[in-house]
Parts: sequence; C-alpha cells; structure tokens
Amino acid sequence: MKAAVYDSPGPPTVLRYVDVPDPSCGPDDVLIAVEAISIEGGDLINRRSTPQQSRWIVGYAGAGTVVSVGENVRDRKVGDKVTAFDMHGSHAELWSVPASRTWLVPDGLEMAQAAALPISFGTAYHCVITKGGLREAETVLIQAAAGGVGLAAIQLARDIGATVIAVASGRERLARLVDLGASHVIDRREKDVIEEVLRLTGGEGANLAIDPVGSTLQASLSALAPEGRVVFVGNAGGGGLNVDLWQPMQSNQTLHGVFMGSLFERPAVRRTVDDLLKVAAEKRIEIVIDRIFSLQDASLAHEHAETAKPLGRVAMVT
Ligand SMILES: NC(=O)c1ccc[n+]([C@@H]2O[C@H](COP(=O)([O-])OP(=O)(O)OC[C@H]3O[C@@H](n4cnc5c(N)ncnc54)[C@H](OP(=O)(O)O)[C@@H]3O)[C@@H](O)[C@H]2O)c1
Repeated sequence: MKAAVYDSPGPPTVLRYVDVPDPSCGPDDVLIAVEAISIEGGDLINRRSTPQQSRWIVGYAGAGTVVSVGENVRDRKVGDKVTAFDMHGSHAELWSVPASRTWLVPDGLEMAQAAALPISFGTAYHCVITKGGLREAETVLIQAAAGGVGLAAIQLARDIGATVIAVASGRERLARLVDLGASHVIDRREKDVIEEVLRLTGGEGANLAIDPVGSTLQASLSALAPEGRVVFVGNAGGGGLNVDLWQPMQSNQTLHGVFMGSLFERPAVRRTVDDLLKVAAEKRIEIVIDRIFSLQDASLAHEHAETAKPLGRVAMVT
C-alpha cells in the first residue's frame, strides 16, 4: 500500500509518500480501506517532535470501508463504512484498527467529515458536558475557539443555550465563530482576554473555561467566576505550563484534565460519538473542513494545517 511516512521528526517535508507493507488485521481488529483522513493537532505535534522507528505512519483519525474483520470481531462486517481513532497509522491507504475504536458512519455524512468528528466533537463533548457540566444559564469561555475542538465546543455550548465567549485571532475567523453560535468573540491579538470576559460578564467571570492552548491556562483561571471550572485539554500554544493555583483554591474553583486517548473505548464515551455522528448526518452540527488534499500531498497538507491558519480541519483523501 501507499502511505505518508516519516523517518525522523521535523517539518512537513519529512513526510514521504511511499510503498510500505500492508498492515495485518489482528483478531480484535478491522482493516479499513481509508478514504478520508483528518489531520489532527496532535498529528502535527507528533510529526514535528516525536521520534519513531523509520517509515512511521502518523495519524489519529480516518474513515473508510472495512475490507477485513478479525476473528473475534462480531459487530463489524466487510463493507461497513466506519470512522476510527487510534494512536497512529491513518495517513495510509490501509489501516488496521481495534474494532472497539471504530464507529459506523450514518448515511448522509461525507467521509472527510466522518473522519474529523470523533476527536473534535468527542473531545469537545467530554469537555463541555461530561467534565464541564455546562448549564443553560451559564457562561463558557472557549480558548482556541477556531480550532477543531473549539469549533465543536461552540456548537455544543450553543445547543445547551449557554452564553459562549469565543477567543481566536483574525476578523474573518471571528465572524465565522458568531455564525456557529458564539455570543461574544474576542480577538486575542487585540484585546486582553481576562478584561474582556470580566466586562462581558459584569465582573462575575465565566462559569466554565475550555482550554486547549495551555499557555492561556493562567488567563482561563483568572477569567473564572468563583466556583467556576476549567477543563484543560491541550497544549496548542506549546511550551511549559506554570500556573498559580493559590487564587483558584481560595475561589473554590476546579481544574479538570481531559485526555481522550484512554477514554474512547469506554462504552459511554463511544455512545456520545455514535450520537454525534447521527446529529451531524442530520446537519444539526457542522464539521468545518477548511481544505481537502490528496494523501500523496501529505507534506503540503501538513504545511497548510501548520502555517495557513485554517478554520476547521484539513483533510486528505486517498
Ligand atoms: N487531550 C485530548 O484528548 C485532546 C483531544 C484533541 C485535541 N487535543 C489537543 O488540543 C489542542 C487543540 O487541538 P485542536 O485540534 O482544536 O487544534 P487546532 O485545530 O490545531 O487549533 C489550535 C488553535 O489554537 C490557537 N492557538 C495557537 N497558539 C495559540 C496561543 N499561543 N494562544 C492562544 N491560542 C493559540 C489557534 O487559533 P487562533 O490563532 O485563532 O487563536 C488555533 O486555531 C492541541 O494541542 C491538541 O493536541 C487534545
């Protein structure tokens, strides 16, 4: 099969489109003929900085058709359209994945959107609803709101009826966030986020902050109402994390961590993704795809995802 591989981590040009052996389908796995791949923030981080064995196939997310089923697998069959999550391997024509990490794709959903849904919306659901416990009368601050997780979090918070304060950069991107349901937007390059949140909430602060940036964690905590919650979910800003937890303790606030890698096989988490796929097929939520490349142009696709400030996911098709 063909795959986009790297030998040593580095810039997008380390990706090479080459022939590699087909993966084998283990007893608990399904083998997927990949049709669409969603490039996730973590894929960029891995390609940039995670040493691996040579000809390593990066990629957390992809969707396609099942072409082989392991002997222990009962709930998938050849011909099923599935979307999947695993720790690597999606940047390829064939991908062997534990069946428990796949979801059936409902009719009406395009494969690029199906590929992008589990990580962005599955993570956002866990942040906003399961851990965040957002309620209708509350205000949520969403950092990196123009990212994959952020765009999903805006829509889930909108559907709860909460007031959504979305932080991003760039006028066009901010306008799009309003279309998707943000009540207020803050351009992080022009305004002080803490001051703006306090102004918008009459000095009270947000009840919940979703933080996929890391370097903004101190600001997320400072913009929080007493007894507010922060869900820390990523490090898109890069660098170390150093926050002062004295004030949060005195304000009875809560800091949650979310890491979906170990959660996606939990039945309750799997069900949320099944439900979200149905909601997406009914067009009640929007999976924003910025641009679609061919897998053979994986290095260009990664470069676009990394440097072009895409709004939504960059996808590839085989
Ligand atoms: N824990 C988990 O299970 C989990 C699951 C999914 C994703 N993640 C992580 O969550 C992070 C975000 O993922 P994603 O897919 O939503 O990312 P993404 O689509 O790549 O978007 C990242 C966004 O972060 C913003 N940003 C970048 N640097 C920033 C900075 N210094 N300060 C403030 N904002 C900054 C950018 O928007 P603006 O320039 O418009 O502000 C960008 O749109 C990644 O680190 C990813 O690895 C974790």
